[in-house]
Amino acid sequence: MLVKRRVREGEGEEMIRLEDVKMHFTVRKGLFKTTTMKAVDGVSLKIGKGEILALVGESGSGKTTLGRLTLRLLQPTSGRILFENQDITNLHEAKLKMFRGRVQAVFQDPYSSIDPFMNIYQIVEEPLVIHRIGDEKERREHVYKTLEDVRLTPPQDYAEKYPHMLSGGQRQRVGIARALVLNPEYIMADEPVSMIDASSRVEILQLLKRLQETHNIAFLYITHDIATARYFSDRVSVMYRGRVVESGPSEKVIEKPLHSYTKQLIAAVPEPDPSNRFRERSVVETGSFDEDDADLVEVEPDHFVAGFKK
Ligand SMILES: Nc1ncnc2c1ncn2[C@@H]1O[C@H](COP(=O)(O)OP(=O)(O)OP(=O)(O)O)[C@@H](O)[C@H]1O
Ligand SMILES: [Mg+2]
Repeated sequence: MLVKRRVREGEGEEMIRLEDVKMHFTVRKGLFKTTTMKAVDGVSLKIGKGEILALVGESGSGKTTLGRLTLRLLQPTSGRILFENQDITNLHEAKLKMFRGRVQAVFQDPYSSIDPFMNIYQIVEEPLVIHRIGDEKERREHVYKTLEDVRLTPPQDYAEKYPHMLSGGQRQRVGIARALVLNPEYIMADEPVSMIDASSRVEILQLLKRLQETHNIAFLYITHDIATARYFSDRVSVMYRGRVVESGPSEKVIEKPLHSYTKQLIAAVPEPDPSNRFRERSVVETGSFDEDDADLVEVEPDHFVAGFKK
């Protein structure tokens, strides 16, 4: 393999950890006034090596900002960001170079991350060139192999094409190939299928899941779509107004949601079988909430809910 990963022992080890991270933006309001936008307001979470965490929540809840923080594309207002237990909160760009080669992003709109004037080969090769990996021949082999990995086959048919010549789904495969070519250990995927037509969505998610499994990549999967979160992720964290209000194993959070906000999110998903629509999904009915209390309480093993009182 052209891009070797550092040896990684076993799962259960930590990839990314956020500790009480806040990201407050100062926003101009009128000519002289400014206000503070608390996009992320005290979030702690961790993603294990090879683990998929889904981040769900309504528009504006802070998901993208949190995703960018995990990649240290933003420097938080306060709190700590750790990558493999190393504090990277305040590292300068020069010192982040090693980290930049080991983490990647896939965005909603592949056009935002790929240059429309480069052909597919150049787009996928570019990260290798930037990180000065391999000679021309080695790079060619690796780029072709990566195009095969994302099922753009035979790769020769795609190498010379330009992004506008591809379908939305194919373009997102190029975005994924570009993210994959450096053999990353962590990928932040921000709504990777929401702009793709419904018929290709499942295929792209299956592709991501297969790549995640074969390459043992840790994933942050940001989505509005609870159904795909259930399918795709090991764990789910639910964001509401810059905070995590519930987190735990996907089947627990989605099938037995405890926080009222999670229940609302799930109730908003159309139920294919109408007789199930009013099914009681909650198990713990003995608890109550303090909606203003942001502290996460472990209600059952590994299932955390904000402001829960037994
Ligand atoms: N650079 C910035 N400057 C000022 N405010 C910002 C900035 N980035 C994000 N925000 C604000 O922070 C809040 C959270 O934004 P964010 O994009 O993280 O939400 P989101 O959950 O990803 O929403 P969506 O589901 O629509 O993508 C929003 O109110 C947004 O306007
Ligand atoms: Mg977003």
